[in-house]
Amino acid sequence: MLPKRVSIVEVGARDGLQNEQLVSTQAKVDLIESLVNAGVNRIEAGSFVSPKWVPQMADSAEVFAHITRQQSVCYSALTPNIQGLERAIAAGSNEVAIFGSASESFSQRNINCSIDESIERFIPVIEQAKANNLAVRGYVSCTLGCPYEGDIDIKQVARVAAKFYQLGVYEVSLGDTIGVGTPIKARRMVEAVAANIPVEALALHFHDTYGQALANIFACLDTGITTIDSAVAGLGGCPYAKGASGNLATEDLVYMLHGLGIHTGIDLNLLASAGETISQALGRHNQAKVAQAIL
Ligand code: HMG
Ligand code: MG
Repeated sequence: MLPKRVSIVEVGARDGLQNEQLVSTQAKVDLIESLVNAGVNRIEAGSFVSPKWVPQMADSAEVFAHITRQQSVCYSALTPNIQGLERAIAAGSNEVAIFGSASESFSQRNINCSIDESIERFIPVIEQAKANNLAVRGYVSCTLGCPYEGDIDIKQVARVAAKFYQLGVYEVSLGDTIGVGTPIKARRMVEAVAANIPVEALALHFHDTYGQALANIFACLDTGITTIDSAVAGLGGCPYAKGASGNLATEDLVYMLHGLGIHTGIDLNLLASAGETISQALGRHNQAKVAQAIL
């Protein structure tokens, strides 16, 4: 059975903009506020990672300081370690996210440590976040393939996801980081993960690099999953495939969900307008098919 409502986690201001050329802090603030105005109530507003690794997110503290907050909205941020968590707390993040991988090589290249080392590093981050009343989300990357290793064993995905959940992560977001998955594979992966943790604690985070994200989401929609991540205007590229598209566009996701009779609370026209404004600020083509059609 399809869900009646899906909660969308808008990641354009983080996952999208971390892979785009630099834009001003004000453009990020305007983007976040216009997304909230369109009805988005869960939004990743930035990332407290090393600015040497990801210069696009170096101004996340300023972004948090300048957005006009709405009480009903959760503004979250990525935190790879204690230093990141302390910065997120100081910035007033409402929620934080740790991020690990189901691929050893991706873990090394993305966060400079092995999967097991990353889990050890996340334990104090989760404990300290909870001590500060912050809920912790956890991403597992490369759930449907890795840019360095190719196929990933779904047992490894299930192991890392279960470990995160045991450690106190309330929601595990399953990343198809390079968008290589296909529908049946995606569904099998979700079922393998959901054998160990409640499906209500899972989210889908499928990049659209190969144009499969919507089909993959549809294939997983009757598993019980009700949380999906996406990025307005399909912001973001793919660092492993120059010129390739990035995240699934929120406009395309919302259009499909509404067409299926599933509520999101998001106004598609306002959303598309937010996506068009940031696309213009970046001087890039709007990657949302639905935005191209309605604007
Ligand atoms: P490292 O170099 O191994 O860390 O990086 P370190 O502890 O040795 O520190 C080195 C330097 O970084 C030091 O500065 C630290 O102070 C600084 P120095 O003494 O050289 O001047 N540093 C920091 N500065 C600010 N904030 C921090 C911080 N931590 C250390 N939090 C580290 C390890 C994890 C920090 C680094 O590898 C890193 O920042 N990686 C981030 C990579 C990243 O952001 N990737 C993109 C996000 S993941 C993603 O997009 C996937 C996702 O969307 C899901 C999916 O699609 O699958 C989530
Ligand atoms: Mg991502």
